Amino acid sequence: MNGVVSLRLGTILRCLESCEYLIDVGTDHGLLPVAAVKTGVAQRAIAADLRPQPLEGARRTIAAAGLGDRVKPLLSDGLAALEEAGVRPPVDALAIAGMSGDTMVRICDRAPNVVGALAQIVVQPNSGIDVFRRWAFSNSWHLQKEVMLMENGRYFQVLAFVPGAGDDPAYANAPFSREELFQLGPTLLRPAAIHAAWFATQVARVGALVEQGVPGFEAEYALWGRALRAASIPV
Ligand SMILES: C[S@@+](CC[C@H](N)C(=O)[O-])C[C@H]1O[C@@H](n2cnc3c(N)ncnc32)[C@H](O)[C@@H]1O
Repeated sequence: MNGVVSLRLGTILRCLESCEYLIDVGTDHGLLPVAAVKTGVAQRAIAADLRPQPLEGARRTIAAAGLGDRVKPLLSDGLAALEEAGVRPPVDALAIAGMSGDTMVRICDRAPNVVGALAQIVVQPNSGIDVFRRWAFSNSWHLQKEVMLMENGRYFQVLAFVPGAGDDPAYANAPFSREELFQLGPTLLRPAAIHAAWFATQVARVGALVEQGVPGFEAEYALWGRALRAASIPV
């Protein structure tokens, strides 16, 4: 490890609040938990993965950083190993990056005791982002931050949630329905060049289908167009 994390992992790190104990589920290389402890964002961390091979990579990263006493590798399907162990050790922050929103929701739903004890969740879903927003809304996790970034020509979204009471105010008073906001991202509708560029790619993608006469995409095309207009910087 050269001590530098990518823009994507660095953005996840920036979205994390200071915590005692972070678990990074699906850690693979282990770069995120190691960087979190190195930078003081987390006092201690668990680098968890479903498969032994990625976990070996995480072990090497931890050893190279000399953090074997503060970052522990854990073979676990999602949060199952912690849930089964009676939430020992008690973790207060969860990061999950690079999987689908559906998988992330399954991981959270299967570990109610672990998730119930968390003070923050930061995710970077590769797909199904609306699925995770919908789950968070239904489970009283309030959206604290939403960051769009581009790395190697690909857009990524990083979302941070904290426990809340009542309906998440991020979804109130918008000229879009809640379901539309689950898809678009309520704060990504704020005017910003990268938000507008992302919505423009979606307008082009779905617009091509509409132009080819593929049925059923008109409403989605109109929605991305409204989002693009909302996120564009006025001139
Ligand atoms: C694409 S990699 C992402 C690695 C890293 N989080 C990142 O964003 O750079 C996905 C990793 O998640 C792991 N994974 C997939 N499903 C999992 C599950 N249910 N529980 C734990 N790890 C899982 C895979 O083994 C793989 O190492």
